[in-house]
Amino acid sequence: MGIYRSKIIVASHINHLAEKGAEIFHGAALDSTMRQSCFAVALSGGSSPRLMYRTLSKEPYLSGIPWQKIHIFWVDERCVPVSNTASNYSAVKKDLLNTVPIPLNHIHPMPGEAPPEKGALQYQHELMNFFQLENGQFPVFDLIFLGMGADGHTASLFPGHEVLEEKEQMIVTVKGGDPYVNRLTMTFPVLNHARNVVFLVSGREKAETVKTIFEKKHAVLPAGRVKPEKGELIWLLDSEAASLLAESH
Ligand code: 6PG
Repeated sequence: MGIYRSKIIVASHINHLAEKGAEIFHGAALDSTMRQSCFAVALSGGSSPRLMYRTLSKEPYLSGIPWQKIHIFWVDERCVPVSNTASNYSAVKKDLLNTVPIPLNHIHPMPGEAPPEKGALQYQHELMNFFQLENGQFPVFDLIFLGMGADGHTASLFPGHEVLEEKEQMIVTVKGGDPYVNRLTMTFPVLNHARNVVFLVSGREKAETVKTIFEKKHAVLPAGRVKPEKGELIWLLDSEAASLLAESH
């Protein structure tokens, strides 16, 4: 039995959602770097977290976060050139990494330009080296930020896809999503070994799916399968995404 705990935070507005996400990042970074030499965080693509990335690039986070000790990874990547606007790495670079004083060798983009299978293996090796893992072990990220699509996908783990059942690999390839391209994605075992996982979800079009995940637990959507075994899960929702949830949640 794990000690998995979860909570929901509802933000009144998307600016508030971004601010809340930045506060969580800041708090977790301070907490980890007091106990250990670095803070390993994995970030998502999509549009919802972009305001949070821009918030983190400004004060008080710009000087309040120990950027020299932060290591940035990605939960998924679209297999496109970095110059493509669909590149998850490029979005974070533009919104955050170009501004904050983070050492270049602390930035660990997924190799989206490599042939997908090769890229998946390469990133898996990078995780094994960074976390000093032996075969069969999984990394323990200090924090993972996830988004969710209206179909219930998270990272590039799409409903009905066979990679949802992956138990051994840390990184797999998959084709899907919007844009419909090859992708690299972390698997559930990686997400569920993290210390903290935060879903950042906004918009009315996600409200029905949020309700399904919380109220119809038999309809197992990919996002509903993220349950960090020994960690904490936070659902950070704006009021539109939370609009169909009953008061009791
Ligand atoms: C990706 C993702 C994906 C994303 C959701 C939500 O690279 O496509 O990481 O899982 O987080 O699709 O995206 P939006 O925030 O744009 O709705």
